[in-house]
Amino acid sequence: MSDFNNNAFRLDGKVAIVTGAGGRGNSIGRAYAVALANAGASVVVADLNGEGAQKVADEITGAGGKAVAVQVDITDTASVEAMAAKAKQAFGGVDILVNNAALMVEITDKPLIQTDRARFDKGIAVNVWGAINCSQVIAPFMAERGGGAIVNQVSAGAFPAQTFYGVTKIALLGATTALATELGPQGIRVNAIGPGMTKTDAGLALTPDDSPLVQYVEARTPIQGRDTPDALCGALLLLVSEAGRWMTGQVLNVDGGWVMRN
Ligand SMILES: NC(=O)c1ccc[n+]([C@@H]2O[C@H](COP(=O)([O-])OP(=O)(O)OC[C@H]3O[C@@H](n4cnc5c(N)ncnc54)[C@H](O)[C@@H]3O)[C@@H](O)[C@H]2O)c1
Repeated sequence: MSDFNNNAFRLDGKVAIVTGAGGRGNSIGRAYAVALANAGASVVVADLNGEGAQKVADEITGAGGKAVAVQVDITDTASVEAMAAKAKQAFGGVDILVNNAALMVEITDKPLIQTDRARFDKGIAVNVWGAINCSQVIAPFMAERGGGAIVNQVSAGAFPAQTFYGVTKIALLGATTALATELGPQGIRVNAIGPGMTKTDAGLALTPDDSPLVQYVEARTPIQGRDTPDALCGALLLLVSEAGRWMTGQVLNVDGGWVMRN
């Protein structure tokens, strides 16, 4: 008999923080927060946009789940420490961190060759340092509970990087393997998800259905050029649950096979 069953995907009693979960109405962070709550976790919905985070937390609690909202700036260590303190106060600790907050639309309107130092610093501060900052602050909370799981949101746009945004995401993949190496001995697994073009409000603003990039991607993607945020949630639950207990330092590309493009 196998000792594996589908309960390995359940997260009852676990506490999860999802950054960037409240900004826009239809976002990947929102879908992640809802999926984690549906799997039994208590969820800290964190975003620079505190009002948006509250809306998502209310949606979860309204459906019978457990959630609180926190306004956070992931680039600011004091703000991240306050987020961790709120998680501990509300739910007793932290087991799961999803580093999903990022700048995307904000840094893709100019090519890398025209990216000045101020924009470079901002993109790296949010997309790379933000995830490292949250990991530094939260890892001790996980270690206190015997371990945990961190998931960094990278992007199909990093394989290969063809924009400054892609550069920030390939850097975040580097941080993923470094942190997996460093935190493994404390029982903390660190993995990444590389979504393809996802139909969020931000994604649709960047690449509307009729944009040439969407047509290019559709033509080169084996099963589906674009999908909704819910298409990413299975990968997330695998990476943060007991079902993924032997996985660390990996990236799961959830993109219909776009990563195989040539
Ligand atoms: N939509 C796509 O096609 C796609 C594809 C691949 C990867 N991604 C990645 O998925 C994630 C979510 O994307 P989305 O489409 O839902 O975008 P989104 O813009 O709705 O989500 C990003 C969130 O990050 C928040 N944020 C920005 N700076 C912050 C800061 N300093 N502190 C805290 N929060 C901050 C924003 O308020 C926003 O809510 C991002 O990491 C993005 O790069 C998106």
